[in-house]
Amino acid sequence: MSNSCDFATKAIHVGNEADQWKCHAVVPPIFLSTTFEEKEPAVTYGYDYSRAGNPTRECFEKCIASLENAKHGIQILLMCCSASGLAALATITHLLKADDHVVVCDDVYGGTNRYFSKVSTRFNLEISMVDVTDIEKLKLAIKSNTKMVWIETPTNPLLKLIDIQAVADVAHKHEGILVVVDNTFITPYFQNPLELGADIVTHSITKYINGHADVVMGFIATNNDIIHEKLRFLQNAMGAVPGPFSCYLALRGVKTLHLRMREHEKNAFEVARFLNTSPHVKKVVYPGLESHPQHELAKKQMSGFGGMVTFFINGDIETAKSFFKHSKIFTLAESLGGYESLAEHPALMTHASVPQNEREVLGISDSLIRLSVGLESGKDLIKDLDEALKAACA
Ligand SMILES: Cc1ncc(COP(=O)(O)O)c(C=O)c1O
Repeated sequence: MSNSCDFATKAIHVGNEADQWKCHAVVPPIFLSTTFEEKEPAVTYGYDYSRAGNPTRECFEKCIASLENAKHGIQILLMCCSASGLAALATITHLLKADDHVVVCDDVYGGTNRYFSKVSTRFNLEISMVDVTDIEKLKLAIKSNTKMVWIETPTNPLLKLIDIQAVADVAHKHEGILVVVDNTFITPYFQNPLELGADIVTHSITKYINGHADVVMGFIATNNDIIHEKLRFLQNAMGAVPGPFSCYLALRGVKTLHLRMREHEKNAFEVARFLNTSPHVKKVVYPGLESHPQHELAKKQMSGFGGMVTFFINGDIETAKSFFKHSKIFTLAESLGGYESLAEHPALMTHASVPQNEREVLGISDSLIRLSVGLESGKDLIKDLDEALKAACA
């Protein structure tokens, strides 16, 4: 499959080639075997042990690798899969050593914040949480021991945008600083960080790429051979690999990513426009709205605006709780990116591990509600939101 093919063609065919199997199976088989026969000691037929490599996992890895390089790619992108988005984060940070400094954008997934502030610091990584939407703040935060800049864009849950190219330009002026982008919220269908100068892109596959809320998995991709070799070593040495069945499901899920992302975006736009007109909503945040403070950057950096919408309800925590009770279609649940619509309360749920004072500075208030807009009928979603808002704010 040529690397110049379009996204949809690659999503369906790369890693799926029937001629890689003796029986020419059109759907890649699930290889459950943990170990593989060897020709002679240490001479393999391609695999030795499933932690180090597994054929089903490799099909999925090849497919996602091709997607992250979708538009103008000339290099073959390298990647490895991990057991979850957070396992990918742990694997990447093992590229560093004690006393290295990491600049992390301040508005990240609560679990990412928790890992950096409460786990990596135990191994003497020095962490600075910085508002990287302001490039001047990034410049000021870089020190002689800075070795990594970790960003999410759009951020979780406030949907702020960070200029990936500008971050890479600043970081790469210094020797040895890696730029890592968590691309979970917008997916390779709408944004390719490696083409904007990032060294590593990572995903929680659990979200849009699998898309069916039935797999927990992560991945890491890079175009840099040396980083790739180190990551492959860490993948095997640390052991945070996904099982073959999860790889099979995620490979099946990604085949419709392009269709799902278009529909997620269409529905999210309708929802954001509706919320913008509701008297029960104080503020709506969606990168596609002209009112988003970084709408111009959104248009420049992404080819679409995604399926996540954040809003501040007119009221307090009880109003927010009542909204969740009254919504019949948006399920009150953590996570995002599945076919089904979800609503959650970041302060009490996904970002509860972020200390309250930090949440207040960031604006993750009690009235903040995060929606993962699913693939149901847009009309039904709006009717449901309308009714839930009216009931909660009555
Ligand atoms: C942006 C982002 N990155 C990483 C993660 C962690 O992924 P996982 O739950 O697969 O470990 C999440 C989880 O919600 C997330 O939202």
